[in-house]
Amino acid sequence: MKTIVLYSTRTGNTKKVAEAIAEALPAGTPCLSVKEAPADIDRCDCVFLGFWVDRGTADKDSQDMLKKLKNKHVAIFATLGADPKSEHAAKSLDNGAAFLPKGVHVAGTFICQGAVDPKLIEMMYKQFPAGHPHGKSPERDALHAEAAKHPDAADLENAKAFAADVMKKLAAE
Ligand SMILES: Cc1cc2nc3c(=O)[nH]c(=O)nc-3n(C[C@H](O)[C@H](O)[C@H](O)COP(=O)(O)O)c2cc1C
Repeated sequence: MKTIVLYSTRTGNTKKVAEAIAEALPAGTPCLSVKEAPADIDRCDCVFLGFWVDRGTADKDSQDMLKKLKNKHVAIFATLGADPKSEHAAKSLDNGAAFLPKGVHVAGTFICQGAVDPKLIEMMYKQFPAGHPHGKSPERDALHAEAAKHPDAADLENAKAFAADVMKKLAAE
């Protein structure tokens, strides 16, 4: 099965997850930025596509890539600042997957937390008043402090297990 890992990243979190996923795939599986996607991407049986969550959906570069994928199977992974078990996380994955052309099989999804750029946090705290969901509060500080620890070793192990599980399921088809 010809497989490739593609990712988009701004601050490196999604790249770390992409590299862990590639480690769990057959040796030699390419792991590239979406901007370096090969011209013959259509020949891959399965694409692992990773995005960073940008305002509740896939970042723009990933959107552009997702729209072009005509492969039989696409497994989607992502990183975000919020709780990966939240409805926002599930919705963000769904919103990203919705950019795929009709008929493309989503072979699996994975999401984990990723440190939020401190410059963005500062900007949000300046822009939004206290009490606003994005404004400074003890809860918001705690969320960012937790996100700052991710992706951690456990996230990377979970990402590898996700990749191995997708491959096992596809091999059994
Ligand atoms: C412009 C911008 C928008 C973001 N929007 C969201 C969001 O809607 N929800 C969320 O949980 N995290 C959001 N984040 C946080 C990132 O998704 C998170 O930090 C991610 O791990 C960054 O990945 P990267 O290091 O691969 O760029 C946003 C970050 C930026 C810079």
